[in-house]
Amino acid sequence: MNTQHHVDLAQLTTFHVHATAETVVSVQSTDDVIAVLRSAPSNVRILGGGSNILVTGDVSDVILKMEIMGRDVLHENENTVTIRFGAGESWHDSVAWCVDQGYGGLENLALIPGTVGAAPMQNIGAYGVEQERCFDHCIGIDRSTLQPHTYRAEECAFGYRDSVFKRALRDRVVITHVAYTLSKRPIVHCDYADVRQELDAHAITAPTIADIFRAVVTIRTRKLPDPSQIGNAGSFFKNPVIAADHAARLHAAFPAMPSYPQEDGRVKLPAAWLIDQCGWKGHRRGDAGVHVNQALVLVNYGAATGEEIHVLATEIERSVRERFDVALETEVNRW
Ligand code: EPU
Repeated sequence: MNTQHHVDLAQLTTFHVHATAETVVSVQSTDDVIAVLRSAPSNVRILGGGSNILVTGDVSDVILKMEIMGRDVLHENENTVTIRFGAGESWHDSVAWCVDQGYGGLENLALIPGTVGAAPMQNIGAYGVEQERCFDHCIGIDRSTLQPHTYRAEECAFGYRDSVFKRALRDRVVITHVAYTLSKRPIVHCDYADVRQELDAHAITAPTIADIFRAVVTIRTRKLPDPSQIGNAGSFFKNPVIAADHAARLHAAFPAMPSYPQEDGRVKLPAAWLIDQCGWKGHRRGDAGVHVNQALVLVNYGAATGEEIHVLATEIERSVRERFDVALETEVNRW
């Protein structure tokens, strides 16, 4: 356990917005987590890779920086292996390690910034796969009882960028470990158009998990800004899911609008397309902007404040609502 005071949050979050945290405690074990929660029961915020947070002011709450590391094989047979990762492990490095071992299931989720502990929280997903596909369980410390609890997939209520940890258990659990069951005889998922095109470009007809991994890394590197170069937190908004009749009206007015019918009859729309149509792509105001290649990604070109990015996001939301009557919901959490 290591405590620091007056820490600039720009180095701890991928938006790289300056703000001062009064106290940051780095934790390396479950006992550390319990000790921090015991010492400051009501005002602890949890920080992983800082890749889904927009800081809009100084933070006086204690920040618990998750640094529990490690990977343990829990079960293994000839077909599958279950591995438990410390919540502080880098997500991408963990995926890369699985691919190196020949363990399949998470390869479509390569290069997503952040830590393993944050993955179940918002059920991270990309290129046709969500982490729930391989999720076995996670262990979390209940913030009121300070007891560890094992959460199986059924208890997690995973949905699109959603889980019980964002709803009924919001701010009530500190995830310390996450276990995934991976396949030693993987079936690859390459239906997503971008992935298909990338494989076709290299004439790969029978892709391995390593091929998928490389394709996803190439696509993301081409399309999305690297947070170490330009501050950002990936998709700023979720893709909205709207009623079928609303989607039909929009299609009549905007025949080129892409849309994805959902199992429940509703329709998911790409927020990037809606924002793009409102003319925001590449927009820049001071150092806050909308990425030139992906309208869903807000960026900090250097000295933007969290408030400036927040104001920009609010204006984007308003213009999408006015033009399409669609409410955007943020994926990024505001601190
Ligand atoms: N599009 C535009 N303008 C743009 C960008 C995209 O019109 O500036 C259109 C594209 O033509 C396409 C559609 O929007 O028809 C969807 O675009 P894309 O395939 O790039 O995916 P997305 O829906 O914008 C989602 C995830 C990403 C994930 C990709 C790939 C959400 C909120 N975002 O983006 O996740 O990497 O799919 O699977 O679901 C993240 O969550 O931080 C993230 C980056």
